[in-house]
Amino acid sequence: PLQTYSRSKIVHSPKVSGSILLQEYLDHQPLKMFHSFSSITSLLGNFGQSNYASANAALDSFAHSQRTSGQPGFCIQWGAWDQIGMAVRNARAKQFFETSGLGMLHPSEGIAALDITAKRIANFGGLAFDIQYSPLSSPIDWKQFKSCLLVKGRLNPGFSEDIAMTDGDADVVNVLQVPGPVVAKKVTAWESKALLNEVQRLVQQIIGQNVDKDYPLMDAGLDSLSTVELRNNLSSLLGKELPATIVFDYPTINLAAEFMLKEIHTTFEDEAN
Ligand SMILES: NC(=O)c1ccc[n+]([C@@H]2O[C@H](COP(=O)([O-])OP(=O)(O)OC[C@H]3O[C@@H](n4cnc5c(N)ncnc54)[C@H](OP(=O)(O)O)[C@@H]3O)[C@@H](O)[C@H]2O)c1
Repeated sequence: PLQTYSRSKIVHSPKVSGSILLQEYLDHQPLKMFHSFSSITSLLGNFGQSNYASANAALDSFAHSQRTSGQPGFCIQWGAWDQIGMAVRNARAKQFFETSGLGMLHPSEGIAALDITAKRIANFGGLAFDIQYSPLSSPIDWKQFKSCLLVKGRLNPGFSEDIAMTDGDADVVNVLQVPGPVVAKKVTAWESKALLNEVQRLVQQIIGQNVDKDYPLMDAGLDSLSTVELRNNLSSLLGKELPATIVFDYPTINLAAEFMLKEIHTTFEDEAN
């Protein structure tokens, strides 16, 4: 077998047992931040690396459970770093990353990715990333990746289907690529959905009933006082003051969320610049 209990234990020890110990130690202590480093292997898997993939998936889940319990919890699935760290010490791994389209991150790109993701979290909190997923940072050439790994059958079937439907468009595969044009120019589809659902939830909280995303908010029961309340809540959600006229200028949930997305794009573009 490629894996043994002792090999799994060595890899699981710092990531899985370490997380469990941290959880016990940190139990309900208020945290300002919690960052951990997982791997692209958690998302894609790899032959002979089930121990490493599962240990990193545990880190992703740990960050997720922190967030769902209202604590900060953030984890990046790193692709391979070039020049420093464990990936460059393994010549075969380095060759695999370079020929498979997964690519390797220059340390300056890795630091930039960390900076961008940290700023996103500071600006948008839980909205910065889908609550269930860790963002991935790897300079992937999706076309090369698709032809190399799909042909060799090296991807899990669900992910393969997602990629097969794309033509190199990272957004469609629900993967956040940082750094690069994807982060700067687009918010991924699942982030848009998260925003839309959150706007709908805030409207429901104020009006007291579910409102269709295309139904005019003033007709649904919003008055001038609750319009101000909604605008304040949407501003808190975005971490940025929205215009007092937002509900009048963008009178449905869909239109308001669309406007907020544009605001997020603008901030990301400013960050990238
Ligand atoms: N570098 C990459 O390309 C890459 C890609 C994806 C994910 N990551 C993740 O990023 C993190 C850092 O990677 P790296 O490349 O910097 O690794 P690295 O160069 O191998 O350094 C790992 C560090 O962890 C320490 N360590 C290892 N096992 C430990 C244990 N059981 N208990 C306590 N400390 C232990 C090592 O201590 P000693 O120096 O004393 O041995 C070393 O300081 C890892 O979690 C890795 O999975 C890295």
